[in-house]
Amino acid sequence: MSLKKLVWRLTPPLTHRLIRDVHFVLKLLPNYAYDFRRFLLYSGINKSRGLAGEHAAQVVLAYHQIEKGLSYAEPRPGFGKEVVERLLRAMGRFVALHGWVAPATVALRVLYEYVAFNEAAGLDMTALRARLAELAGSAEQAQAMAECASGGALPVRRSELEARRVEGFADFFASRHSVRQFAGGAVTPADVAAAVAIAQKTPSVCNRQAWRVHAFQPSDQMQQLMAIQGGSRGFGERAGALLVVTCDLACFVEAGERYQAWIDGGMFSMSLCLAFHSMGFGTCCLAWSKERQADKALRTAMPLPVGEQVIMFMAVGTLPESFNVAVSTRRALGDMLTFH
Ligand SMILES: Cc1cc2nc3c(=O)[nH]c(=O)nc-3n(C[C@H](O)[C@H](O)[C@H](O)COP(=O)(O)O)c2cc1C
Repeated sequence: MSLKKLVWRLTPPLTHRLIRDVHFVLKLLPNYAYDFRRFLLYSGINKSRGLAGEHAAQVVLAYHQIEKGLSYAEPRPGFGKEVVERLLRAMGRFVALHGWVAPATVALRVLYEYVAFNEAAGLDMTALRARLAELAGSAEQAQAMAECASGGALPVRRSELEARRVEGFADFFASRHSVRQFAGGAVTPADVAAAVAIAQKTPSVCNRQAWRVHAFQPSDQMQQLMAIQGGSRGFGERAGALLVVTCDLACFVEAGERYQAWIDGGMFSMSLCLAFHSMGFGTCCLAWSKERQADKALRTAMPLPVGEQVIMFMAVGTLPESFNVAVSTRRALGDMLTFH
């Protein structure tokens, strides 16, 4: 009998529990420290790094506050003055580094809608108009760039939404399964791009869209990544594409947003599954529930921007004529739904 087994036999159950707890804490703490360090270094909180994603996030965060205000039933004329100031500062910083590209152009559009709304309410917006013109070089340039961008408030009619209602959505949703038998056909870059484009409609915190997708076609590298993930043994090799879904931590700018990457990235991943399902492909989400060593191994196996947080992998493939899926029975509704 090994010494470990002997000690185990001679000690009371309470000690076993204590040992297990201490062991778990010792495993957990360095992983929390790893995540903490990564958030500290690469999230938008870290202003000292001048991250491109952080500059963009500050612009989106501010313009979206104005957009939200414009979408209320009765926006208050002159609302959000402080946000407008913050937005102008963020735009100035962003444009100085990256030029007039989105989201700065979108912000311009939103600000012109804000100006139009306030002018219609009888407020004098000369000062803000002048500042926009100054920022863009001239009033004409500012107007032209704003017209090419989309942003602001979108009028919607209930009848339009009614017309687009999908009767069979519950069936469609219920007919998605995790697929662990692929036919081995191609999932082309165009297929992946089409699915990602659909999934981009996923909501995200202040519309920051932190998700990123790294797509791999069948190759030794794809197999290597699947081996590091470890959950697709026996079926991953017939996948037509492997996706690594990440979130750019630079998009998160407050301590309260420390878990937002997993929320927004998880929601996006669900959309992506449904998008592929709607296109006739099968998917299997593959967990990235890993400790720091695996995260480091992945970063040496693929070129992953250092500030991106891995959310999950996804195997995508063509469907055989007939195949089995796991039943994956769902819990009773009453187990998870509480009316208060
Ligand atoms: C984040 C996440 C990670 C998952 N990881 C794996 C995995 O590594 N390997 C696997 O075969 N299935 C994996 N799955 C699939 C689940 O087992 C599956 O979604 C669940 O049993 C429900 O079944 P359904 O997807 O067919 O409805 C994962 C699912 C999610 C959402």
